[in-house]
Amino acid sequence: DDTRAGVKGLLDAGATSIPAIFHHPPDSLPQQEADASSITADDAHTAVPVIDLMAAPREEVVALVRAAAETAGFFQVVNHGVPGEAMAAVLAAVRGFNEEPAEAKRPYYTRDTAARKVRFYSNLDLFQSQAACWRDTIFCDMAPEPPAPEEMPEPLSSVMFEYTDAVRKLAVWVFELLSESLGLAGDHLSRMGCGESLKVAGNYYPPCPEPHRTLGNTRHTDPTFLTVLLQDGVGGLQVLLDRGGGGGWVDVPPVPGALIINVGDLLQLVSNGRFRSVEHRVLANKGTGAARVSVAAFVDVGRSMRRYGPIQELVTPPGGGNPPIYRSVTVEEFIAHFYRKGSERRPRLD
Ligand code: SIN
Ligand code: FE2
Repeated sequence: DDTRAGVKGLLDAGATSIPAIFHHPPDSLPQQEADASSITADDAHTAVPVIDLMAAPREEVVALVRAAAETAGFFQVVNHGVPGEAMAAVLAAVRGFNEEPAEAKRPYYTRDTAARKVRFYSNLDLFQSQAACWRDTIFCDMAPEPPAPEEMPEPLSSVMFEYTDAVRKLAVWVFELLSESLGLAGDHLSRMGCGESLKVAGNYYPPCPEPHRTLGNTRHTDPTFLTVLLQDGVGGLQVLLDRGGGGGWVDVPPVPGALIINVGDLLQLVSNGRFRSVEHRVLANKGTGAARVSVAAFVDVGRSMRRYGPIQELVTPPGGGNPPIYRSVTVEEFIAHFYRKGSERRPRLD
C-alpha cells in the first residue's frame, strides 16, 4: 500500500479500523482508570501555567518562567508578540495542505531528512519504533538557511516566513527570561547560539476510528533547545508530571491565542539540569469530525562544531557543591546519541 498518502490517505481510502501496525502496547496507552488519577484541572494549571509575558513587574514574569522551567518544563504564554492572524493562518495552511488530494502531497513526500527543506511524511521512525502513530507531518527547515518560497507548497509559503520570523523574536525574548531566571545576563543563551536553527513541524492528526488503540505521538522529550508549539482547539497534548508519586499525565489544554513553550534536552544540559526537558505525548484524536492541527517550532543550535555543556557560571569547580552533571557534546554527538537510543525515545540525558 501507499505510505506516501499518510494516515489521511488511509481514511480517504475508507478505513474504519486501524491497521495493526498502529496498535501500541497496552502499557503505553492511556488507561482510563489510572489516568483519572489524583490530578485535577487546577493542579494541571498550576503545573503548566499560562504566563502573560507583558505583565509587570518583569521580575515576576522571570520568577514564573523559572518555576515552570524547573518543574513541568512546559508553560503557555500570552501577550507574546506573535500576531494572532499569523497563528490562525499557519494553522489553516497546515490543515489545507494535509487535506489536499494525495497527488498534491506526493511531490513533497520523502523519508530522507537531507533530501530537501520541505518534506511531507508520516511516521518517519516507522522502521525503528514499536508502533506507528496516527499523524502526518509537513516539515520545513526554516533557519539558518530558509527554503526558497517556491520549494514550499502554497498557501503555506505565504504565511510560514512571517510566522517563523515572529516565533524567532519570541524565542529571543524567552531566552532572555530564561537567562535572567538563571541569574545570567539577558543575552547569555542567545549569545551561545541557542536560537540559530529553526525547524517547523506542521502536524495533522486525523480523527481516529480506534483512538484507544493508538497514539498521535508516543512519549518523548524534544531533542532540541526549546520548542514553541501552537495547537488548535482540539486538544490531546499531555505532559508527564513527576511529583514524588503524585505525578501522571496531565492535559495541556488549548488556550485561545496562547503558545506553548517547552524545554528541550539541550537546554536541560546547558542549565546543568535546572531546567527540565519533560516527556510528553499526544493522544489519538478521538473526534469524529475535525483533524487536530499543531505547529511545532523547534529552536535549536544548528549543527556547528561548537560544544555545548553546562554553563560555567552555573557550576562549581570539581569538589564544589554544584559540579557539572553532564559532559559537553557537539550537536552531532548528541543527535547520534539520540538515534542510538532507538525506538523507546526515553529521556536521553543519562
Ligand atoms: C510533539 O510534541 O511532537 C507534538 C506536540 C503536539 O502536536 O501538540
Ligand atoms: Fe515534542
